[in-house]
Amino acid sequence: MRITELSSERREELLSGLREKYEAFRSSGISLDMSRGNPPKEQLSLNSDILNAVTDPDDCISEDGTDCRNYGVPFGLKEARELFSQLIQVPADNIIIGGTSSLNLMYDTISRAVTHGLAGSPRPWGKEKHVKFVCPVPGYDRHYKILEHFGIEMITVPFTGHGPDMDIVEKIVADDASVKGMICVPVYSNYTGDVYSDETVKRLAGMQAKAPDFVVMYDDAYVVHDLYGVPAEIPSFFDECVRAGHPERPVIFASTSKMTFAGGGICCVSFGDENLELAKKVMAMQFITHDKINQLRHVRVLRDLKTVRERMDRFGSMLLPKFEAVEDTFEEFLGSYDIAEWSKPRGGYFICFRLRYGGAKRVVAMCADAGVKLTPAGAGFPYGVDPSDSYIRIAPTFPSVDDLKKAAELLSICSLISALENNTPLEV
Ligand SMILES: Cc1ncc(COP(=O)(O)O)c(C=O)c1O
Repeated sequence: MRITELSSERREELLSGLREKYEAFRSSGISLDMSRGNPPKEQLSLNSDILNAVTDPDDCISEDGTDCRNYGVPFGLKEARELFSQLIQVPADNIIIGGTSSLNLMYDTISRAVTHGLAGSPRPWGKEKHVKFVCPVPGYDRHYKILEHFGIEMITVPFTGHGPDMDIVEKIVADDASVKGMICVPVYSNYTGDVYSDETVKRLAGMQAKAPDFVVMYDDAYVVHDLYGVPAEIPSFFDECVRAGHPERPVIFASTSKMTFAGGGICCVSFGDENLELAKKVMAMQFITHDKINQLRHVRVLRDLKTVRERMDRFGSMLLPKFEAVEDTFEEFLGSYDIAEWSKPRGGYFICFRLRYGGAKRVVAMCADAGVKLTPAGAGFPYGVDPSDSYIRIAPTFPSVDDLKKAAELLSICSLISALENNTPLEV
């Protein structure tokens, strides 16, 4: 039903019923925080085996005999690099294990590029007049915060359902030497849920870049986070880049934050050979070693890709009813109107909700006023500005199914009120 075609009496009638429901929500005392994608308590509890994987001093010895309680092996245990090698499809020798946060490794990568440049840089990025990055949107707000912090201009590119629009990306990257990079989440993209197609991965690897030091910061945060037990299989970006003659292009990150303990897992970054050496030189000043006992705990439990997938399937089946509760509630309350659309992701941590009549800021504020805190509208865009004011990120992983149903109903009510009051669609 197109709401623009409703008679004014019918619209007023609908609005008054919705306002009543909204007031009932407001006085119900609901209090929910759905602003960030946190793993649910049930999943964290299932990870207790990791806490118990190293309990004895005799357990602290790695496969090559390293005593993990001591300094040494700064760039990560071989078995930890081999585990990530299977997850992110990169040779173990090109992987560095970090501390507990992949975001930290992303910040450091940009920071090094700004102060010293990367492989192929004519000069440090900080000495360039302009440095720009391609950013598929809506995307991950913390990526944009890092780029903004270093004064890197962000050029937005829309998604197609299987990654960013590559015609646009190729043109931007080929035409402008100040475009030094792109940052993206290739599997279950945060927040559209896009999985990059084979063609997208190959075009990203093979496209011509005017900047000699162009990199793709490829954040594999959700690489094994399938909801339906069906793995998202995509080609190895690293191999594709090598094959295309761009071995220094891939900078690939991952962590176990959404597999084991958020902010308490292990993480990695991988580079081409030259960038790997540059990174190691700086890292050798930054730390003597990371926590190898934590690496040991993780590899003893996670073991290999097969074991990780089995474990993630269990987590996926815990999360699926939560995603379905939100999707079904939207369908129930909004399915017969033309005011919104929402993603039905096959994995990852988010549902992307788009208001066809705009008004995202107002809808998020109305939800907050009634007790449901959502990710701020605009967060999925550089500088926090969504030009169409239409995207809202739903993070269904942490709350209970009952709470999610209530929150999705409230969001539906607020969206309808906003669209009926505004009554002007963004596009026909
Ligand atoms: C796309 C993406 N990358 C990175 C992170 C943070 O990972 P870490 O805990 O390893 O820093 C998150 C957390 O929400 C994320 O969604």
